[in-house]
Amino acid sequence: MKTLAVLTAGGDAPGMNACVRAVVRAALGRGARVMGVRRAFEGLAAGELAELGARDVGGIIQRGGTILQTVRFPHFERTEVQDEALRRLRERGVEGLVVIGGDGSMRGALALQRLGLPVIGIPASIDNDMPGTDLALGVDTALNTIVEAIDKLRDTASSHRRAFIVETMGRQCGYLALMAGIVCGAEMVLIPERPASVPEIAAAVREAFARGKTHAIVVVAEGATPGGAGLKAALDQLRSGFSFRVTILGHTQRGGSPSALDRLLAARFGVAAVERLLAGERGVMVGLKGREIAAVPLEEAGRGVRSPELDYVRMARMLAK
Ligand code: F6P
Repeated sequence: MKTLAVLTAGGDAPGMNACVRAVVRAALGRGARVMGVRRAFEGLAAGELAELGARDVGGIIQRGGTILQTVRFPHFERTEVQDEALRRLRERGVEGLVVIGGDGSMRGALALQRLGLPVIGIPASIDNDMPGTDLALGVDTALNTIVEAIDKLRDTASSHRRAFIVETMGRQCGYLALMAGIVCGAEMVLIPERPASVPEIAAAVREAFARGKTHAIVVVAEGATPGGAGLKAALDQLRSGFSFRVTILGHTQRGGSPSALDRLLAARFGVAAVERLLAGERGVMVGLKGREIAAVPLEEAGRGVRSPELDYVRMARMLAK
C-alpha cells in the first residue's frame, strides 16, 4: 500500500489534529504517502483531497478542532454518494483510508469498507458513547473543560448560597455528566441511563442545604429528562432553601487544546491505525481496552450507544454527603 487518506468526521473533538499528525508521520515513516481529505465525507465525495507532508502537520499537536474540518453529512448513506467517494479516492491512487470520528463516522467507514476499500477507524467523540473503546479521543479534554467550569460556578454559588444546574453534552450517553459529578463533588447527577424524579433531586438539594452546605451542584446530561431548563422550573416550585441558576456548557466542551492524555491517545491510535492498515488489517476500529490498543469490527463500533458503568452513580451519591 503506497497511498493512504485520512479524514476527520462527525463532531470535532480535541486531539483530532494530534491524531492526523500521528497518522501522517507514521505513514511517511513507513514509506507511504498520505492525502488529507477536507470536510469529512462530503469533501470526500467532492474530491477535496490534498497531499499532507510532515511539515503540513507541524504545529498542530496542541490545537483543538480539526485542520481538515468536519461536516455532518447524512447523505453519505446514499450508495451513489459512496460510489462517488470511492471513485474520487481511486482516481487519486488512494489504497487505504483512516477515518477519525464518532459512531456515525464508523458507519460511513464501514460503507466504504464494504465497497472494497481497506478502512480503519479511530474513535473520536467527546461523548464517550462508542462501543469498542474504553475512551475515545477528546473525552478527557472535554471533562477537564467541564471541571474548570463547575469549579468556577461553585465559587459564585457559595457566595450567593445558590444551587446550579449544569448541563453537559453527551447526546444519549451520561458519561460526561456522571464523571463530572464525581470529580466535581456534585450533589446530584441526572443521566439518561438512570432517570431520577424531580422530588428525588429536590430532596438531595434540600438535604445538602440542611447539612449546612453553602451551594449545591446538579449535573444534568443533555439527553436526560427533564433537561436543565425544565428541571429549574420544577425545582423552583419546591422550596429547597437554595435559589437555582442554570448553565448550559454547550459547545465550549468541544473546543480547547487537547490534554496530555488525549495527545497520547491520539499518537497511539494514529500509529496503530497506520501500522495495522499497512500490515493488511482492515474493517476495524482501533480502541483502548484497559492499557492496550485493541481492535473491534467497524460493525460493532458503529452500532448503538455504550453506557457508562452505573456503579459510578452509587459512588457519586455516596461521596456527595
Ligand atoms: O457528538 C458530539 C456532540 O457534541 C454531542 O455531545 C452533541 O449532542 C452534538 O455533538 C452536537 O452536535 P452539533 O455540533 O452538530 O450541534
